[in-house]
Amino acid sequence: MSFRIQPQPIARPNRCQLFGPGSNTKLFEKMAASAADVINLDLEDSVAPDDKPQARKNVIAALRDVDWGNKTISVRINSLDSSYWYRDVVDLLEADTGRLDLIMIPKVGCAADVYAVDALATAIEAATGRAKPVGFEVIIESAAGIAHVEEIAAASSRLQAMSLGAADFAASMGMQTTGIGGTQENYYMIRNGVQHWSDPWHWAQAAIVAACRTHGVLPVDGPFGDFSDEDGYRAQARRSATLGMVGKWAIHPKQIALANEVFTPSEQAVTEAREILAAMEHAKADGAGATVYKGRLVDIASIKQAEVIVKQAEMIVG
Ligand code: COA
Ligand code: MG
Repeated sequence: MSFRIQPQPIARPNRCQLFGPGSNTKLFEKMAASAADVINLDLEDSVAPDDKPQARKNVIAALRDVDWGNKTISVRINSLDSSYWYRDVVDLLEADTGRLDLIMIPKVGCAADVYAVDALATAIEAATGRAKPVGFEVIIESAAGIAHVEEIAAASSRLQAMSLGAADFAASMGMQTTGIGGTQENYYMIRNGVQHWSDPWHWAQAAIVAACRTHGVLPVDGPFGDFSDEDGYRAQARRSATLGMVGKWAIHPKQIALANEVFTPSEQAVTEAREILAAMEHAKADGAGATVYKGRLVDIASIKQAEVIVKQAEMIVG
């Protein structure tokens, strides 16, 4: 075990991040009224090039005028290979909206990408006297992003969350699919003539979780494109939760309840976690480091596992 204590990510719910294009103003009030923990107003790929300047204005007006309650509000800027991103950052941070929590940087390929936005944001905040530094979140959605995932997770003290962006990731990796997340028809194994589907996103998710947990960043699963496939979304989200991710994107309101359902620890899980903690308290009182709970071994590591679940539940209740 390293002598370094694993840093804790920011303590706020991040079960569902709801996206909406910055060009579609009629969605803003609906997004604000939704049950998503995080709102992502998009200036990037859901906004056509000609609409970028207007979308920027819409988003700034919405930050100012819409009652977002206690949600975390994030704006996805354009990627650093575009000509739009610096204007996104400048206009968002120079506007005194009082409501921008996070800037989401897409298609991050290395730590220097985050550094560049950090330098710009720091200068603007110093010039304008912005009271609270804006936080960052990033999307890992390229071969370079996943290859440099650890340095990216460590790139800035502003960084709060990191998502896997399945569609751009698949394209960058040259994966033979147009699906956005979920089961891929050709990714299977055969045993006794029977196909068993495997999960092509698994390794990237696990790499993201490891980098995030090392550096105190929230790991988040990105979009699931087929919003009519609720079971598919739920299955993907459950796998992500099992791997340590804290939430998932919604690209349609239908997906919000599904994310909240999966990433809110069930009453049964919380009860069991509390029972494990109580069992370990008894064991400790008896001078033992391990005991039996419902016929299975629990030990000091089980305390940490149980605490993850109890802490999550407590944070969501607030
Ligand atoms: N946030 C809040 N409300 C939304 C919404 C969103 N992202 N997307 C749709 N709605 C609303 C619609 O306005 C409609 O409301 P109504 O019942 O009051 O008319 C209702 O939910 C049902 O919408 P539906 O007709 O099924 O979908 P649509 O055809 O209007 O929109 C999409 C479908 C995919 C274009 C739209 O959901 C969308 O823009 N999603 C976000 C895309 C995005 O941001 N992508 C970037 C990240 S990958
Ligand atoms: Mg993308």
